[in-house]
Amino acid sequence: MRLDLCTWEEVQRHLETHRAILVPIGSHEQHGPTGFIGTDAICPETVAREFGDRDGVLVGPTLGIGVAQHHLAFPGSVALRPTTLIAVITDVVRSLARHGFTHFHFLNGHGGNIATVQAAFAEIYGEASFAATASTLHLKLDNWFTGRRVLALTRELYGDANGQHATANEVALSYHAYPDHVKDAQLHPKVAPNGRFRDAADYRARFPDGRMGSDPSLATVEDGGHLLEAAVEDLRDAHRSFTKA
Ligand code: NI
Repeated sequence: MRLDLCTWEEVQRHLETHRAILVPIGSHEQHGPTGFIGTDAICPETVAREFGDRDGVLVGPTLGIGVAQHHLAFPGSVALRPTTLIAVITDVVRSLARHGFTHFHFLNGHGGNIATVQAAFAEIYGEASFAATASTLHLKLDNWFTGRRVLALTRELYGDANGQHATANEVALSYHAYPDHVKDAQLHPKVAPNGRFRDAADYRARFPDGRMGSDPSLATVEDGGHLLEAAVEDLRDAHRSFTKA
């Protein structure tokens, strides 16, 4: 169930029996020569919507721009400062909490967002703490790519060549979501280098085609379908334990 396709009256009725909402969160950044700019948003959005349709869970707006300053030397990348993303998350939660939602389950597709989402949660909980009131809100962050089943399948399909950025598994899942847009490019070297980085210029110098440690030429639409099934199962486990708490 997608919030953006509901009417306000449908949302009001849904709230009579449900208080949880899923919020996909990602990034808009380069993903090497074969990955979509929107990969990190497309993946959690696809998983959340599939699970939401199957289990009757409402899926809120995808927060599709994240903390990605280190990708800004590649055309098409768009980044938010951590403080901006904290403000966006806080206002999204406040908006939906006003209507009666109490359980906010963020499904993330970008490692660079994790620290900032946790900081936003601390800000939101802090409002109640400093006011000496009890918060009615429950906030949880999961990454679609760190679920038990997804990790096992990724290892089986790609081993170490999954890599750290523009990974084979995220490219496969995004290709499954948009099979008419599959890209073809020669990758040199086949598996990209790995390492640390500081800012955008440093990142581009160390990882000239944008990939880190990955060989996304292994990604197929078919694998993406299997990864989607694994991710939906992982999300179901996580969501049930969250909403029971
Ligand atoms: Ni990514």
